[in-house]
Amino acid sequence: MSADGFAKGPPPGARADWTIDQGWDRYTPAEHQVWMTLYERQRAMLDGRACEPFMKGLEALDLHRSGIPDFARINVELNRLTGWSVVAVPGLVPDEVFFDHLANRRFPAGQFIRRADELDYLREPDIFHDVFGHVPMLTDPVFADYMQAYGRGGQRAMQLGRLHNLARLYWYTVEFGLLQTPQGVRIYGAGIVSSRAESVFALDDPSPNRLGFNLERVMRTPYRIDDFQQVYFVVPSLQALLDATLQDFAPIYGRLKTAKDIPIDRIEPSDLVITRGDQGYAKARATAQ
Ligand code: PHE
Ligand code: CO
Repeated sequence: MSADGFAKGPPPGARADWTIDQGWDRYTPAEHQVWMTLYERQRAMLDGRACEPFMKGLEALDLHRSGIPDFARINVELNRLTGWSVVAVPGLVPDEVFFDHLANRRFPAGQFIRRADELDYLREPDIFHDVFGHVPMLTDPVFADYMQAYGRGGQRAMQLGRLHNLARLYWYTVEFGLLQTPQGVRIYGAGIVSSRAESVFALDDPSPNRLGFNLERVMRTPYRIDDFQQVYFVVPSLQALLDATLQDFAPIYGRLKTAKDIPIDRIEPSDLVITRGDQGYAKARATAQ
């Protein structure tokens, strides 16, 4: 998670790289209970919905043993599997700080957990979104490399002034990505797997378009931060996603300078259509506003 608009350095108590101690001993029983409730809810939902690497990662890290996971404990296994670790941060961090962590195989995770009366509402990514949503995929070697490459790519996109385009790649893969498998379309995006409603909507609702992943197309597609997505992109494999990003993005960024954004609900003639959505949900929401 990252955000711009940070004029100053880290908040009081945080280190120069914005990390803090997780302070696992200070979570209250009620906070652990929020984790358990969210965990049970999502775990039951995700069989046959989340992709295999996610489910395997969830098991490998044993994310339910003691309520809110202790980073010191999950980092032993995560480090052994892919060399990644999770570090605690107070909340959103500046882009360059976020990219530096990723480029060094550290995932910055919010330390706090949402309130029991706000299970489905999130102002900012909390530890459930960040750890349950993101960390299982970091146990997959290919996805682990992709996230590190993204960190390096973020630093470069900032220099080239194309971060808004690269951010769309993050959004439509790391947060809201779908994966084609022999058993059907499955979820790997953290924003979906950590959301009770969207883990159903993303796969089953007739509203959104589901289109084959195309790097440059994705970077031209705006996204919604306030509601379910109107389009999801499906990668044929995690390896194909990584392979697509190994190329030099500079020529793509060059083209994007003059290319127009693609309206969020549009299907282009060149798109591989997996599901043509009726946008029914999005339209109903727009008239209800
Ligand atoms: N290859 C990209 C570049 O040249 C870097 C990148 C890798 C970006 C993976 C995103 C994901 O900028
Ligand atoms: Co996230």
